[in-house]
Amino acid sequence: MEKILIDGGKPLVGEIETSGMKNAALPIIFGCVLVKGRCVIENLPEIDDVEVSFQILEDMGATIERIDRTTYAIDCTKVRGGSSSVQLVRKLRASYYLLGAEIGRYGKAYVGSPGGCDFGCRPIDQHIKGFEALGCTVRMDGNYVEAVAHKGLQGTNIFFDLVSVGATLNVMLAAVCAPGVTVIENAAREPHIVDLANFLNTCGGHISGAGTDTIKIKGVTELHGCTYAIIPDMIEAGTYMIAAAATGGHLKVTNVIPKHLESITSKLCEMGVTVTEGDDFVEVAMEGKKLTRTNVKTLPYPGFPTDMQPQMAVLMCLAEGISNMHESVFDNRFRYTEELARMGALIKVSGKMARIEGVKSLRPARVRAVDLRAGAAMVIAGLATEGTTEIDNIQLIERGYDDLVGKLTKCGADIRKEQVG
Ligand code: EPZ
Repeated sequence: MEKILIDGGKPLVGEIETSGMKNAALPIIFGCVLVKGRCVIENLPEIDDVEVSFQILEDMGATIERIDRTTYAIDCTKVRGGSSSVQLVRKLRASYYLLGAEIGRYGKAYVGSPGGCDFGCRPIDQHIKGFEALGCTVRMDGNYVEAVAHKGLQGTNIFFDLVSVGATLNVMLAAVCAPGVTVIENAAREPHIVDLANFLNTCGGHISGAGTDTIKIKGVTELHGCTYAIIPDMIEAGTYMIAAAATGGHLKVTNVIPKHLESITSKLCEMGVTVTEGDDFVEVAMEGKKLTRTNVKTLPYPGFPTDMQPQMAVLMCLAEGISNMHESVFDNRFRYTEELARMGALIKVSGKMARIEGVKSLRPARVRAVDLRAGAAMVIAGLATEGTTEIDNIQLIERGYDDLVGKLTKCGADIRKEQVG
């Protein structure tokens, strides 16, 4: 086990390069199960969830070749359906994309129940609704999900009861080779939905409308290998933007698509932060200004991302006045506020709302990462606070941030990892 130690109170100054997007890489990696051939995937982030995904696929018979730090060749020609390891699958939520990929390739799937961050209840009823609409009979208990299309898959119309990133991605995977046409309505519009559609189309798929709330999929008989580069991680970029603002620094975040960051940029400007946009970078500076309060409601894309909620809450703690955070996507994504309270944050949570009273400064403390993005928020809090902050349980942060300590160190942060015990 390791912990992170931060000697905070120093402004972040310099340049940070964003890695490939975790939540785009994972469905694309599992999407390779649909392809009988070699897929070269570029701009992959070097994070634990990608490593575990590789282990799952190799366990199932895939061959995975490292070409360089961010490029891997994945060949699933010999993958055996229904053979994924229950223990490995439980390590991450994205393993449930194996369901859609196995259904898409074999007309059936058998996958252990997924893991992932604990934000309260995270059902998969919309995923199952889509699989059943395509002709599958789905059985599940607490340990596994089984889907079988006894009469084969058939394109169909699916109207999701709510906007779900995972269900949209999973049904795209299941439908891309289903005979006929599938139309997904009330689809999620996140950039990583577009990325998966672009990957599948590069393999020979016929998907249109990704990025809108209506996605049309014309089934193809098979998919071929390809070379594809993952989009940059908008949540990683947003995390560093907020870290720069919280430390009163001046940071250029490169390898970004500014359009993906619009809701974050807009909120930061509202709070008095100067954000300059280039073609593939954003520059964040405080220029001696004071942070002012704001209100945020998390929403599906293009709204303010729920994966930026904890990080934004830290910035609100340092802004003058009372800010309000409304978490409208997940049931219980405020567990981290107890950790922030140890640092002197004044946050009152009631249901899906958090009332945050700005303080002059936080105080160093020993805290822990309660989930991936909450862990990143604790890092931001430590960077903004004079004295030494310790963060335990950092393996949760390493699931989704590529070389966080190295990237921050290069921008003047006094941050290091240490073995615990
Ligand atoms: C994905 O989770 C991401 N995870 C999450 O990122 C992200 O917070 C979330 O999308 C929203 O953007 C991965 O991509 C691996 P949803 P997912 O289905 O697919 C409810 C991170 O930090 N729902 O859009 O699980 C659900 O409970 C992680 O990188 C149903 O009710 O999110 C939630 O309240 C954390 N039934 C809401 O919809 C369903 O069948 C949105 O969930 C599916 C979802």
